[in-house]
Amino acid sequence: MLYNSLQLLHVLSVIVWVGGMVFAHFFLRPAALQLEPPERLRLMHEVLRRFFAAVSVAVLVVLGTGLWMVGRVAKQTVQAGGSFAMPLDWTIMAALGLVMMAIFGHIRFALFKRLQRAVAASDWPAGGQALAAIRTWVSVNLALGVTIVAITLLY
Ligand code: HEM
Repeated sequence: MLYNSLQLLHVLSVIVWVGGMVFAHFFLRPAALQLEPPERLRLMHEVLRRFFAAVSVAVLVVLGTGLWMVGRVAKQTVQAGGSFAMPLDWTIMAALGLVMMAIFGHIRFALFKRLQRAVAASDWPAGGQALAAIRTWVSVNLALGVTIVAITLLY
């Protein structure tokens, strides 16, 4: 029951993170392009501020529940007299997951801060550049997230 609850929290957090990236990339951004730069950048800044706050929580939950599940399986295997080796799909998930988290850290603490400063100063060209960089790295994280889910479920 505990293991299933951890798995549920893990997957719900992944849905918020990956689903939010799909929404921002494929639905919000193309629609926002119809706005003039000041409105577009203010809107994207407000949306991303809220989304990144949710992703910060999701990252902690994904990491915490993921490590907890690995720990539980390892403990049970060792207690039953076996030796624990991480399954390949779990290893790939954890490795790529850590890369996704590092990229999110860069987006949130470097690029988004740049966007924040540009919007506060009404520097729209700088804001556009920061937003373009955020979009690039969100695409990378989206591709990694979909790859992880595909490997985990197909393997
Ligand atoms: C350091 C990070 C992570 C660790 C340690 C980790 C670990 C785990 C573990 C142990 C399971 C349970 C698997 C099972 O019982 O079969 C799991 C399930 C899952 N994880 Fe992760 N995970 C991490 C990050 C991620 C990320 C970033 C994603 C997707 C973007 C992801 C997607 C999933 C999915 C979809 C499942 C459900 C698969 C299933 O149970 O069939 N995980 N994870």
